[in-house]
Amino acid sequence: GGGPGVVVAIDGPSGSGKSSTARGAAKVRELRYLDTGAMYRAFTWWALRNGVDTADPAAVAAVVSRPAIVMGMDPSDPTVRVDGTDVAQDIRSQEVTENVSAVSAVPEVRARLVALQRDLIAEARSEAGGIVVEGRDITTVVAPEAEVKIYLTASAEARAERRSKEVRSSDIAATQADLMRRDLFDSSRSDSPLTQTEDALELETTGLSLDEVIALVAKLTDEASGEV
Ligand code: DC
Repeated sequence: GGGPGVVVAIDGPSGSGKSSTARGAAKVRELRYLDTGAMYRAFTWWALRNGVDTADPAAVAAVVSRPAIVMGMDPSDPTVRVDGTDVAQDIRSQEVTENVSAVSAVPEVRARLVALQRDLIAEARSEAGGIVVEGRDITTVVAPEAEVKIYLTASAEARAERRSKEVRSSDIAATQADLMRRDLFDSSRSDSPLTQTEDALELETTGLSLDEVIALVAKLTDEASGEV
């Protein structure tokens, strides 16, 4: 542990159900909620809007501290703001999705966003009883001291089916190809790749309902905070 409050860290590939699970568990246990992927997406959105060549790591690194990224951590109403603009919808666009892997592989981007994430986690620990944080490197890099560490998985088919519903696409094969391309990139980059470590509990969610997965995470949270 790392002080008062409880930190629940959830990692996993795209479409594993991380966001819905983390948000749902934060709601039922009245904790804060942080979607770190939204932060990488927000920075990518800003870079695209400002004509930064996202394929050029040096160009991306040069502007790393420019946008102000502010996260609202209420699980009933999570918000993402870039320089005061609400970007919650825009960061889910195809253009952002296609560029976010390359941007999030830039070490300077990770250094800045990880520092921000740690500040938000510390704030939630001391002021709100704790937080559920989800991403790719939360259990390994951002919050290795977390009381609960979970690696969420599901079959590639189940993940593509979920993501197709999210983006309202009927082309599940194309969605699956896109997910696999992004996962390969996110797992093979040199800085903080998505990795499954032994001290994280693997939760395989294929065939489980969202409510079942949320209940499992809530139970693990209770056990870790000594309430059971
Ligand atoms: O979870 P998501 O699809 O919204 O994440 C968007 C991208 O951000 C994903 O392709 C990898 C990157 N990411 C990351 O590198 N580290 C995190 N902790 C969260 C997301």
